[in-house]
Amino acid sequence: MAARLLVDCDPGHDDAVALVVAAHFGELVGITTVGGNAPLADVTANALLTCQLFGLDVEVHAGAVRPLVAAPRHAPEIHGVSGFDGPTLPDLERRPASTEAVDYLIETIRGEEGLWLVPTGPLTNVAIAIRQAPDLVDRLAGISFMGGSAGPGNRTPAAEFNLLVDPEAAAAVLSSGARIHMAGLDLTHQFTVDDALSADLRALGGPGAILLADLVDGYLDNAERVTGRRWGGLHDPCAVLAVTHPEVIESELRRVEVELAGTFTRGMTVVDLRAGDRRSSEAPNVHHGHTLDHPTARRLVLEAVAALDGEPAP
Ligand code: BDR
Ligand code: CA
Repeated sequence: MAARLLVDCDPGHDDAVALVVAAHFGELVGITTVGGNAPLADVTANALLTCQLFGLDVEVHAGAVRPLVAAPRHAPEIHGVSGFDGPTLPDLERRPASTEAVDYLIETIRGEEGLWLVPTGPLTNVAIAIRQAPDLVDRLAGISFMGGSAGPGNRTPAAEFNLLVDPEAAAAVLSSGARIHMAGLDLTHQFTVDDALSADLRALGGPGAILLADLVDGYLDNAERVTGRRWGGLHDPCAVLAVTHPEVIESELRRVEVELAGTFTRGMTVVDLRAGDRRSSEAPNVHHGHTLDHPTARRLVLEAVAALDGEPAP
């Protein structure tokens, strides 16, 4: 039976791909949005547009505008001011089902045991939901999130973007006792975004695939300007594949802490990679995805986009 998924996201091209992969290989029960790559209104519109183009009949609930403690920050230099800058976007015909994503998450997870929650943005909504309803942790099959890194960060030398935006939320989620799978940069950088991926998406030919190819092109232009390399990682679908195709990701149960105080390391995930007796005496809390079967993951993503693209809107 296909896994039933809730995706909490901040599209961003890679969040959009994650939604398509979740809808094709799982049962996408609902979508919640969180301020991250772009402000909340923009990422909510982008999630709705993704549903519209790929014919996904799924409710979108808007959530947190800002992180728990930190000042809001976005990623216009990578994803554009709107999160979907670049292509000419069609008119948006969908509306959010509510602006109460946290209430929606609590109600839905309480209403059905065994859902997977897949956060692909800052963990603000998830942390608030668990704080208000700690029983959610035992109702879920697990939380498979994109964020953190067992190596370098991207937004700072130490911190990955989703963790840096809301480190307090991430710390709360990682210490919640839920079954947690982590797709950090050390994993997601194994899923190469380059001109070849854009070309393969474009060749699929439907309006959704072409939008994704245009977004990838914009991302590569930005990456080249910011990093000097026309290259990046397709991060967020990895958190979905960890649920729908666990065989494509090798993982190990490890202790992961979030640095909240460091002058240079705030938002860093400290992953205990040591072996045996050297390991932290704290119980391991995260299934740390470390090795991706990239050819299979890439094939699965293209298969999902091809399957859903051009679906008539319900
Ligand atoms: C993460 O940050 C965002 O820019 C992407 O959508 C991904 O979720 C990568 O650091
Ligand atoms: Ca994201």
